[in-house]
Amino acid sequence: MKIMVVGGGGREHAIIKKLLENKTVEKIYCLPGNGGISRDAECVPISSTDIPAIVDFAAKTKIDYAVVAQDDPLILGCVDELNKIGIPCFGPDKKAAIIEGSKVFSKDFMKRHGIPTAAYEVFDDPKKALEYLKTAPIPTVVKADGPALGKGALVCMTREEAVSAVREIMEDKKFGKSGDRVVIEEFMEGPEVSVLTFSDGDTVIPMVSSTDHKRALTGDLGLNTGGMGTVAPSPYYTKEAENAALEKIILPTVSAMKAEGRPFHGCLYFGLMITKDGPKVVEYNCRFGDPETQVVLPLLKSDLLSIMLATTNGGLDKVPVEFSDGAACCVIMASKGYPEKYEKGFEITIPDEISQSVYVAGAKLENGKLLTSGGRVLGATAVAKDLKTAIDKAYKLCERISFDNAYYRTDIGKKALAALEKEV
Ligand code: AMP
Ligand code: GLY
Repeated sequence: MKIMVVGGGGREHAIIKKLLENKTVEKIYCLPGNGGISRDAECVPISSTDIPAIVDFAAKTKIDYAVVAQDDPLILGCVDELNKIGIPCFGPDKKAAIIEGSKVFSKDFMKRHGIPTAAYEVFDDPKKALEYLKTAPIPTVVKADGPALGKGALVCMTREEAVSAVREIMEDKKFGKSGDRVVIEEFMEGPEVSVLTFSDGDTVIPMVSSTDHKRALTGDLGLNTGGMGTVAPSPYYTKEAENAALEKIILPTVSAMKAEGRPFHGCLYFGLMITKDGPKVVEYNCRFGDPETQVVLPLLKSDLLSIMLATTNGGLDKVPVEFSDGAACCVIMASKGYPEKYEKGFEITIPDEISQSVYVAGAKLENGKLLTSGGRVLGATAVAKDLKTAIDKAYKLCERISFDNAYYRTDIGKKALAALEKEV
């Protein structure tokens, strides 16, 4: 089988490594991929948002199955265009991808179906939004409606910050047209848990839970990033939280999407906050999370390709989806200064015997050398029988990888471990 993966980060690398475990996979192309991925797949320099070029490549290369892993192409309708030329895909069509593509859609959808989430208001006029903020409860969260590279949600601890957020998003158009509308929502408190699920439109199967670390620096300091590390399973996703999430959030979401004529095929990501009133939805994503995938897929014992094909064709209830009982930890090694200013172009050294545990996100290949080319450079994942061992092993991997100006947090999983120890 010839497979095409659309995207080019650590998540895509983790997906590719897992797919390669299936012996029917002859070849994987990755568009555009990166220097690290090119060791496992043929990287093709086509941008993940250039839908006509992706479709053209898929037709010429006679691709059997496409995995559209990244949010932008999904929201733009990449799956719809590939389906039109007869190529089956993993991932939702445009109609279903709107669950991530529009915050206004997702909030209204949850309200229509009684799915627990933060209370909110929607504005398309900055004057009205600013007027509302005069008396709105503070802290609050201001969110651009459309996609904004994961940076469109601004948690505002003061009224002044909220006013600036509305100005930046709606008047200065920091995120372009994505800021034509904003959602202003209630601030929620509690630990965050990511629950990725497989869905074929009817059946939904949750994967092992995980917890991201969004702040750049050790001690949860610094700016928000795309994610500096993850652990799975999340100790905050207790049996009680899991049962409530399934009954009140996960199952109703998938059946309501179908009832609204938007059956969801692919990976539906539930960003949950475990509040004192139970789990509530922070966000939906229409794809695997990054870096959650780098801990979730290494724990998957079943065959990923068979599961993916079932999400596309139906019959997910008949395919085994089993996770190991152990734990995983992924530590992201970044370029010092990320997410602001950082230098790149430094050579990366990864010993061969650990390369299977490394998912490369920001690197390019030049004259046979792997050089840093992004803020988040790679993730090192370790799997073990328990969380503590997984964390220790992941940090041992990091010590064996080197590049100039490397930075990584030294406390990935620390809070999770403390929470786990408190439970026992
Ligand atoms: P989002 O892009 O909606 O996932 O938001 C990004 C991050 O902002 C989340 O992972 C949370 O840490 C935070 N956040 C978003 N919405 C809320 C909320 N209503 N209350 C508290 N924090 C939030
Ligand atoms: N880790 C958050 C995301 O993938 O959106």
